[in-house]
Amino acid sequence: MSRIRRFETKLFRIRNTYPRSVLILPLLLLIPVWIYSRDDRTQAPAPLKITPQLLDLFRQKLNSSHRNADIERVWGQIIEKFIPLPLDSFVGSHAVPLLASILLTNESILELGCGNSSTPMLHNISFTFNRHVLSVDSNKDCLSAFSSIMSTKSLHQFQHTLDWSAIGNDRQWSVVFVDNTPEKRRIHDIIKYAYRSQLIVLHDSESAAYMYDKASPFFPYQYRYQYLQAYTEVWSTTNAELIEKVRYLSELTVQWQLPRMTIKKKDTV
Ligand SMILES: *[C@@H]1O[C@H](CO)[C@@H](O)[C@H](O)[C@H]1NC(C)=O
Ligand SMILES: *[C@@H]1O[C@H](CO)[C@@H](O)[C@H](O)[C@H]1NC(C)=O
Ligand SMILES: *[C@@H]1O[C@H](CO)[C@@H](O)[C@H](O)[C@H]1NC(C)=O
Ligand SMILES: *[C@@H]1O[C@H](CO)[C@@H](O)[C@H](O)[C@H]1NC(C)=O
Repeated sequence: MSRIRRFETKLFRIRNTYPRSVLILPLLLLIPVWIYSRDDRTQAPAPLKITPQLLDLFRQKLNSSHRNADIERVWGQIIEKFIPLPLDSFVGSHAVPLLASILLTNESILELGCGNSSTPMLHNISFTFNRHVLSVDSNKDCLSAFSSIMSTKSLHQFQHTLDWSAIGNDRQWSVVFVDNTPEKRRIHDIIKYAYRSQLIVLHDSESAAYMYDKASPFFPYQYRYQYLQAYTEVWSTTNAELIEKVRYLSELTVQWQLPRMTIKKKDTV
């Protein structure tokens, strides 16, 4: 008798001894186990808990001349947490270099000019990493639209001003984000904060209207993020290493082809 024949007779005997339902039951029990184990293998690793401690470790290990898979993974997850994707081509083009600049520094953040793609992100950063943020705007309605939905008990403060020279004078800033109006005011603020900040992040640098080129000679260390238009610059008067790290982190998003909104081309006839 062949092996198969023997097996078939055995099976026949089992089938006759036990009711069919008893045989099917163990198989049914195995299905959830199979589905669970299959899911486990296809799922991405569990999301990291983004904490100030994780950020400390991230900064210690970050070396812009040495690729590191752990660093890239943490950076990818931080982006996912703080930046809504796809990146908005115009108003969202500063989100990546701004986030990188903030992660690499420790102290206060000054936002000159509120906006949908910076103020909510800064609020989250303030909350998550215990960072002091001051958001200033000359438009009262715009400012209160944000301050009304964001907890005022937090480290994130809001200030209305019509006189930009009167604010931000009480301390050194880690990061100053320049996105204010009127457009001719920006050049004064860039020069004002040149030595009162570690990094200055400038939005709309492809436009000559802001005259950024007049302030440029003050800043020997510069990086331009061109993944989206408008362009964003990150400048420092003193810290080459910080600029290199901002460059490294920001350029990773170019390599990754981080989702961005496509600019609609006009139909050609
Ligand atoms: C960064 O990496 C480079 C190249 O691998 C290495 O020479 C350098 O010592 C590293 N710097 C630090 C601070 O670890
Ligand atoms: C801020 O964080 C909350 C909770 O983590 C999230 O729901 C929200 O989308 C975040 N907002 C931004 C602009 O990142
Ligand atoms: C941030 O703080 C740590 C220690 O608290 C310090 O070693 C590091 O140099 C600081 N980084 C910057 C960019 O100031
Ligand atoms: C910001 O977003 C809100 C809600 O999505 C919208 O009502 C508001 O007009 C936006 N503000 C600006 C300045 O784009």
